[in-house]
Amino acid sequence: MTHADWHLELDFSKKTIKGTGLYTLQHQGAPEVIFDVRHLQITGVKLVGQEQEAEYHLTEEEPFLGQGLHIALREDTRQVEIRFVTTPQSAALQWLEPGQTAGKTHPFLFTQSQAILARTWLPCQDSPSVRFTYTARVQVPAHLLPLMSADNPQEKGATGEYFFQMEQPIPSYLLSLAVGDLAFAPLGQRCGVYAEPATLEAAAYEFADTEKMLEAAEDLYGPYRWGRYDLLVLPPSFPFGGMENPKLTFCTPTIIAGDRSLTSLVAHELAHSWSGNLVTNATWNDFWMNEGFTVYFERRIMEALYGPAYAEMLHTLGYQDLQLTLEELRDKPQDTCLHLNLAGRDPDEGLTEIAYEKGNAFLRHLEKLVGRDRFDLFVNRYFSQFRFQSMDTAGFEQFLEKELINGDDTLRQQINAAGWIHAPGLPAGQLPPKAVLFEKVAQELEKWQHGTAAQDLATHGWSTHEWLYFLTNLPQGLTQAQLEELDQAFGFTASGNAEVQAEWLRHAILHRYEAAYPALEAFLVRVGRRKFLLPLYKALLQTPQGTAQAQAIYQKARPNYHAVATSTLDALLNR
Ligand code: BES
Ligand code: ZN
Repeated sequence: MTHADWHLELDFSKKTIKGTGLYTLQHQGAPEVIFDVRHLQITGVKLVGQEQEAEYHLTEEEPFLGQGLHIALREDTRQVEIRFVTTPQSAALQWLEPGQTAGKTHPFLFTQSQAILARTWLPCQDSPSVRFTYTARVQVPAHLLPLMSADNPQEKGATGEYFFQMEQPIPSYLLSLAVGDLAFAPLGQRCGVYAEPATLEAAAYEFADTEKMLEAAEDLYGPYRWGRYDLLVLPPSFPFGGMENPKLTFCTPTIIAGDRSLTSLVAHELAHSWSGNLVTNATWNDFWMNEGFTVYFERRIMEALYGPAYAEMLHTLGYQDLQLTLEELRDKPQDTCLHLNLAGRDPDEGLTEIAYEKGNAFLRHLEKLVGRDRFDLFVNRYFSQFRFQSMDTAGFEQFLEKELINGDDTLRQQINAAGWIHAPGLPAGQLPPKAVLFEKVAQELEKWQHGTAAQDLATHGWSTHEWLYFLTNLPQGLTQAQLEELDQAFGFTASGNAEVQAEWLRHAILHRYEAAYPALEAFLVRVGRRKFLLPLYKALLQTPQGTAQAQAIYQKARPNYHAVATSTLDALLNR
């Protein structure tokens, strides 16, 4: 398929999308075309130019993958029309009741297509190495505004009918739709933010630097090729921090901290406009090429705006996460290689912190070896040469050989690409990043352990990242009195910063600090971001008491979670 034209009708009372897709095909006498579908009802197929219904069949349902929709073609068939309706099992979709939104009066719908869920809401060739342009006509109730990864309206129209166009070819995992009581605020010439009216002002404040990030990104790695860059703030059940849907990043409201301290996530999703959306991992085994480059690029953007000391904090926290992930995966060493083998598995389960932080560490290693100027030229050429194409790991290794190593045997050895990409763990001899700004945090932590009262520690002026370093490096085996002391001095249980609060709640669970339990339950019921849920539920599951507590909370919270969160948590909690 090279282009699709969809007509989508949303029914919020039935919670269905009824659609028709007109797919343009490019082929030379192919006997059939195959689309991916999963938990999607197919109601009819036509070959454009033929009066009668076309012949098609669905293959047997496979776990994760769903079914192949095979449509017999004629030699002259250029377009096929598929009619379909989503089902309650369409896992990309989360239909929210008004009570699950900020405004509490209107329902909401959003999609999450990555990695292989696009096929659950529309038939498509659901591989990251197939690209197509699209248009869509979308019908929604008149009081709601739909948005897509496309050119978007900035206000509601009278009829509830909207037209969308995506002129740049994209892979299916970047298809997205959100519908709700949404309003728009500009952030600059090319950037803006959509949110529910109740959240819009806070969102516009938080993301005020977005346009500057975009300019910094272009200065680093070449023109932004997508026209506008807007953000959409979703309700708190959104299962990820952010999703790089082209032209319109989807993000969790849990990064609205009130002090702009969690906006590296915006830099991250923006960076995907190059790494991922422009040059796309050819398969999910090559996921590190999307995320590793993006983490590296994200921190270059943050460095350009806020300086190297800031970026170094992000690297240091990321490296700590990497160490924890390596530890967690010690029985699955193959999953700690950059290049993965996900055959027979749900890609969603194989995608870990390794791709992000080991990928980033590899690129930093290259940068250090050849110097920043040479490395930046290399990355520029990579994005420019392969734009709007997919790239696999072997292709990257070839490009590395040709454009960076260029016959230099010493450099080839120093780089040790095979060790990074195809061997588990981290190659020996890596110096971990060490943020200067964290030295004083370590000192204060030390003082506290040696008897200085928490309220007498020199914490004035600490940013979120310093607090996160403090919390992630708290010793084990704290007493109730110590937890109480910290909480009283620093107000962690009631923190308005979701990252800080989540990390504190994990300690609260591990130490059975009951004063934080009401906040813990409220957090788990309100927030559906998988990165927060997993560590908290896992911490609860470490004791029988905690397990009972986890089951009770999950019972209550589950209706608020998106399918990508429940599929992981159901397995974890034996549901
Ligand atoms: N593309 C990812 C989210 C994703 C990955 C969804 C794999 C489905 C499958 C997105 O860019 C991302 O990495 N989000 C992170 C935030 C980031 C700052 C590390 C997240 O959601 O936590
Ligand atoms: Zn990402």
